[in-house]
Amino acid sequence: MKFFIDTANLDEIREANDMGILDGVTTNPSLMAKEGIIGADRILKHYVDICNIVDGDVSAEVIATDYAGMIKEGENLAALHKNIVVKIPMIKDGIKAIRYFSDKGIKTNCTLVFSAGQALLAAKAGATYLSPFIGRLDDVSQNGVDLIAQIRLIYDNYMFETQILAASVRHTMHIIQCAEVGADVMTGPLSSIKGLLNHPLTDIGLEKFLADYAKGNK
Ligand code: E4P
Repeated sequence: MKFFIDTANLDEIREANDMGILDGVTTNPSLMAKEGIIGADRILKHYVDICNIVDGDVSAEVIATDYAGMIKEGENLAALHKNIVVKIPMIKDGIKAIRYFSDKGIKTNCTLVFSAGQALLAAKAGATYLSPFIGRLDDVSQNGVDLIAQIRLIYDNYMFETQILAASVRHTMHIIQCAEVGADVMTGPLSSIKGLLNHPLTDIGLEKFLADYAKGNK
């Protein structure tokens, strides 16, 4: 299972990367705005800064919602760095744009996915990654992990190569449940990744080992 971090914060990306477990980064316009990255030039430079930290796929989202606009923007983004993945919304022109980029060998991440039907369309268009937003589904009383399992079954039935990127992950249990049902990738905040480290028995055990060592090595 690949681990992506869902942030545009360079310090958090560095921290996750330094742990040695980071496979990539996802961003979106809201995450860029949260870091105060505003204006086309700054946004493009920020993507390059992210690519210079982590050696893995970095999703950069188009703002255009029409086919021609998405192609122009996506080509500019893809030209920034070899690791850029063009992130495209799940809309009709988006599907057409995913097909265009797929035919050109440019990686795509189909975002804002909330149903199995949308997942089928994105896979048929040749998306590299598919991003079902599991946390936002949970927010409206629909089980997000169940959707990941449903898409896993469908993709396996037809051997679609599109990778299921569980997005909108909010906490450690999301990560574990996504691993159980076979998500290829998860993207979540640094807190969800670091949360996997925690167990009180680990802390108690380590404290005891160190205390016993100290007793015998005075
Ligand atoms: C995915 O790529 C999105 O950036 C992200 O996971 C959305 O998460 P949120 O629902 O926590 O905003």
